[in-house]
Amino acid sequence: MKFENQEELIVEAERKSAEIFPGDNYDSVYFPKCGRKDWFYFSPSSYFKSNTITLDMIQRLQKGGNMLSIGPGDGNLEWLISKGFGIPRNSISVSDIKPDLNIKRYNFKSYEFDMTKPWPILNEKFDYILFPESLGVAVMHIPGDRRTWRFSDQLDPDTERIINGQDPKYPDFFIQVIEMDVPIVSKKYEIIKEAIPYLKPEGEIRIRYGLHENQQKAYVMTKLKQENSAITFPQPNEGENFTIKVP
Ligand SMILES: C[S@@+](CC[C@H](N)C(=O)[O-])C[C@H]1O[C@@H](n2cnc3c(N)ncnc32)[C@H](O)[C@@H]1O
Repeated sequence: MKFENQEELIVEAERKSAEIFPGDNYDSVYFPKCGRKDWFYFSPSSYFKSNTITLDMIQRLQKGGNMLSIGPGDGNLEWLISKGFGIPRNSISVSDIKPDLNIKRYNFKSYEFDMTKPWPILNEKFDYILFPESLGVAVMHIPGDRRTWRFSDQLDPDTERIINGQDPKYPDFFIQVIEMDVPIVSKKYEIIKEAIPYLKPEGEIRIRYGLHENQQKAYVMTKLKQENSAITFPQPNEGENFTIKVP
């Protein structure tokens, strides 16, 4: 089936979700069926509605692309992508610190590691590395504020500039103050740095929840641009989404 736009993709995702998970009303958050009490999960189709999973992504996967999902929970989103859109299950890999028992039935290639620690060697590269509501939760134990209010006269305009694709006026100062005041964002950057070598050319990291605070986004954008000026931050990059694309 062909989809002309995101709206049509969303309708199809909801239709497929009802077909694939009959009797389950995955239209909001829900508690894991395996009994774990540490997280709650998000409806698979919500990732289409939030524009985290987009038409171009589904089309690239349908043409043979592959994806690694870090922190997939019960794997229902990954199964909706695979079963619902004709993407072979061996195009999808998953990795969790503590895999949910229910994901095993989907037989995805799976890894088990803590994303906040140095990653093991993965013997493959991916078109997409997805963090579906997992980057933010993996670091939520790190204390401290989610942004700094110091030096707002310099930092706020620089945040604005960076988000709009321009260079900050005080890049070193910007980085130093945020590193000092917002330690959680340095850890998020470290996690992203671990993921980048596992992207194929023109591969994308897609994050939902974890990098939605503009100051944190701007910090990560500046650090990544300093490493490789050809990295871009295309759509979907609004709301809770953040996307990083390598050349
Ligand atoms: C809020 S749940 C989201 C699950 C699913 N993606 C969803 O949208 O419903 C967070 C997921 O991240 C995983 N996770 C948490 N901390 C992690 C870490 N340090 N390394 C790898 N995975 C982690 C959890 O085990 C869980 O699967």
